[in-house]
Amino acid sequence: MNIIEVESYEEMSEKASELFIQKVRNNPNAKLGLATGSTPLGTYKRMIADYKKNGTSYKNVTTVNLDEYVGLSKKHPSSYRYYMNERFYHHLNLKQENAHVPDGTALDLTIECERYESLIDQLGGLDIQLLGIGQNGHIGFNEPGTSFDSLTHVVELTENTREVNGRFFQNREEVPTKAITMGIASILKSKRIVLLISGKEKSQALHRLLNEDVTENFPASALKKHPNFTLIYDKEAWKGV
Ligand code: GLP
Repeated sequence: MNIIEVESYEEMSEKASELFIQKVRNNPNAKLGLATGSTPLGTYKRMIADYKKNGTSYKNVTTVNLDEYVGLSKKHPSSYRYYMNERFYHHLNLKQENAHVPDGTALDLTIECERYESLIDQLGGLDIQLLGIGQNGHIGFNEPGTSFDSLTHVVELTENTREVNGRFFQNREEVPTKAITMGIASILKSKRIVLLISGKEKSQALHRLLNEDVTENFPASALKKHPNFTLIYDKEAWKGV
């Protein structure tokens, strides 16, 4: 595990964006694993700024997102597809057909999960995966107790996750109860993993990650088994104040 401590959210975003931009410059066909939530926003802003300033091209890049809410269409402002369109895809020369998010409206969710996992395999695994973390240690939507062998699957969201994610919805009742997520084993297929942890709300998760053993009760701990795992956290997350 490669650990980078930085002063601030801005510095964390700078470092993460450098890793992703470098990957795309070195490999114009790069396969990027992307995440949603508040944490990656600064990283995406910097990647877009670099595209506009330096012309780093995403023409042949493929992106694969971690997860999506069940039941939300791509037009729903709280869907992860909508988030990615607004905050990333539409600002770069990435082709829509190369920008993948699970389809939360698929009629058969089991088939959709299998399709998504096959997609990852057909791509030969992702080159670099960006991750945030839930306060309870979830990655993607893999809640505590998820098997480390899990592939893309449907999950029942915990009340805590629905509560925390309620801020992205008009009201709490609107938050779906289920999601499709890449599993822990799907995430670990990536050649490199970059986890970002910022802010005091994530302090407990950061310290658990650093201090606790690898256990399915704390999903992010699985990352410690990965041969190319980089953790970037800021001082606020470390101090918890
Ligand atoms: C959601 C997402 C995760 C994300 C987490 C943290 O539940 N499914 O992929 O990492 O929340 O989000 P945030 O970065 O907003 O704290």
